[in-house]
Parts: sequence; structure tokens; C-alpha cells
Amino acid sequence: MTNEELTRKAIEFLPRSYAPYSGFHVAAALLTKDGKVYLGCNIENSSLGATNCAERTAFFKAVSEGEREFSAIAIVGGKGTDESALADYAYPCGICRQVMREFCDPDDFNIILYKNSGEYLVQTLEQMLPHSFGPENL
Ligand code: THU
Repeated sequence: MTNEELTRKAIEFLPRSYAPYSGFHVAAALLTKDGKVYLGCNIENSSLGATNCAERTAFFKAVSEGEREFSAIAIVGGKGTDESALADYAYPCGICRQVMREFCDPDDFNIILYKNSGEYLVQTLEQMLPHSFGPENL
């Protein structure tokens, strides 16, 4: 699957985002090494602290279904649920980067960001989370 195809799946999933408090809608499409895609959105909560990010929703769906090997994640977000809202890259938060680190080889996992100018930013997890702590450190 191409970066563009994976990103398109994330964009199509944006209307599932539940973000009544921030109005910031995020969706993610997580690709397994054997080509399956798990989709996630942010799910906010009136307590705010119980909010779950789109990336973690995608990871927790996949891991809970038995998946352990991943090759890439496409992430989109903005103040709306259609492509016109995607004015900037939606960078993954630190907690989500650390969740990726639990299951992904930092040098062999791509994070794909997109904005509606048509530009992509593709970086490895190592680039987004350098000098990281992971399972092999315990
Ligand atoms: N959000 C994500 O879904 N992913 C991120 O990596 C950053 C933030 C969500 C959480 C919250 O619902 C909204 O964006 C504003 O922080």
C-alpha cells in the first residue's frame, strides 16, 4: 500500500472522530507488515484526561486483535472533518510516539503526515522519537 493510499484511508475516517471539546479532529491509519489496515480516531471525554488519541485508538484496536508487527501509520488532523480542515501536519503527541515505540522498530516504522496543500512529511519513528526508551531496555 502506498503512503497516499494509507493517508486517504485516514482522511475518510475523520468523521468518526469524537471531539466536541477541542473541535480538533484526528484520524490515523495503521498498516501491519502483512498489509492490513486498522483505523483510529480521537475519542474525547468530558473529564478531558480520559481522552484517547487517534493513533492510540488505532494501535489498541490492532494489538487487541493480535497484531504485533507494523510498518507505517498515516495521521491527519485539523479543526474539521473534511480535507479542507487539514491545513497543517498533525504531529503525534509524545504519549502516542511512546506507544508506537512499544511495538515498532524505530528504524523500520514510518510516520506519514499530510496537509491539504498536497505535501507529505514522512519520518521514521527514530526521527520523531530519538534516544528513546523501549522494551529491550528493561
Ligand atoms: N490528538 C490526537 O488524536 N493525536 C495526537 O497525537 C495529538 C492530539 C487529539 C487529542 C484531542 O482530542 C485533540 O487532539 C486535541 O488535543
